[in-house]
Amino acid sequence: MKILGIETSCDETGAAIIAGITRDQPVRLLSNSLATSLESHAVTGGIIPENAAREQLKYILPVINEALKKAELDVKKPAIDAIAVTYGPGLIGSLLVGIETAKTLSYLWDIPIIPVNHLYGHIYANWLMANSKWQLEAISFPAIALVVSGGHTDLVLLKNHGNLEVIGGTRDDAAGEAFDKIGRLIGLAYPAGPAISKLAAKGNSKAFTLPRPMWDSKNFDFSFSGLKTSVLNLIKKNEWNFSINEIKHNEKLIADISACVQRAIVDVLILKTMQAVSKYQVKSLLLGGGVAANELLKKEFTFRSLDLGIKLFIPPSYLCTDNAAMIASAGFYNNKKKSWKEVNADPELYY
Ligand code: KG4
Ligand code: ZN
Repeated sequence: MKILGIETSCDETGAAIIAGITRDQPVRLLSNSLATSLESHAVTGGIIPENAAREQLKYILPVINEALKKAELDVKKPAIDAIAVTYGPGLIGSLLVGIETAKTLSYLWDIPIIPVNHLYGHIYANWLMANSKWQLEAISFPAIALVVSGGHTDLVLLKNHGNLEVIGGTRDDAAGEAFDKIGRLIGLAYPAGPAISKLAAKGNSKAFTLPRPMWDSKNFDFSFSGLKTSVLNLIKKNEWNFSINEIKHNEKLIADISACVQRAIVDVLILKTMQAVSKYQVKSLLLGGGVAANELLKKEFTFRSLDLGIKLFIPPSYLCTDNAAMIASAGFYNNKKKSWKEVNADPELYY
């Protein structure tokens, strides 16, 4: 079975082709095309929804065309069985570009649509053959997934394909959002996660004391907005007597703040996730979402999983951030085919 995946929930426009045989095997990635309007959002310091939707319109057809060509399929009538498209959560204007395109192609090519929850997509990036771990071992259930992106920080228990239970989530800012908002405070462009991670490598993670929000709570919830306030207070207190501009241009100071912030976020993510792994006695741990591309997070999870003897799966970075391959993969394993008439956007969709 071949599936065309389409992802347009935010600022990335993606199309990918996957091929799968049965649900107890990984799927094969035949092509994966992506265009991003990230640079234009870096200029405005964040995403302006209307701009994101306009950019989606610019890229959607060229990206689909490229994905079909790379997979050596006929662009006018490709030999595919279904179109998997993100129907939420996300920005309504951006989502509609992908959904309306999918509907038109579904009508033209006379194939069904599989509406996919973007959050499932981040989890199912782990089932793509491109994840080289697959050559060694398969994911077994039950599993815990940590979905950690710009909009979500969720701990999900997977008992089987499509059998998901959310056991914890963020009460305010998501981890990626915390990286981005704190980055803005210290003068970094959006999205700040990758830049903070790079700067942190040169900084001292013990330079300042930052809180570990929800550390002692007896649940699997997260909260990251207090961390942003702590950094803001640190800057306001300004023990160094620098101007805001001097703070933003002091490389040592910015590197130290970055290292402390990254350490605090990673510490909390690791603690809660490993507590969930122990409580539910799962066999596999899956990471997904843009923040899962963070090197320190990956390193710490690798050590901790070895300690506990649990199988850890982390998609390669290009499959952690938004992409269409993960949407096609989620579509294959949660194969609920619909007619184009039944598919609608749901910007507030959860699990
Ligand atoms: O999954 P994603 O591409 O989009 C959403 O669905 O939100 O995640 C984007 C988020 C941004 O907040 C970005 O700052 C963060 O992932 N991110 C990182 C890294 N790469 C991306 N955060 C920390 N370290 C990274 N290396
Ligand atoms: Zn995402």
